[in-house]
Amino acid sequence: MYVCLCKAVTDNQIREAVANGATRFGQVRKELGLASQCGKCGIFARDIFNDSLDRTIDQESLFYAVS
Ligand code: FES
Repeated sequence: MYVCLCKAVTDNQIREAVANGATRFGQVRKELGLASQCGKCGIFARDIFNDSLDRTIDQESLFYAVS
């Protein structure tokens, strides 16, 4: 779904940015142009970012290195 109508950014793009290694909302905001026009999407976009980051961290903690 579209999160940022001004820049046509979807929730999947935010999740993909996190999957590709983004760890700070500012990185994603700059990369995708989020909240750079009217700013109404900022809070919702940050919620999606935080949720994606939490899920990534949870998934990483399920696995451990075996030597
Ligand atoms: Fe994202 Fe306007 S909806 S900047």
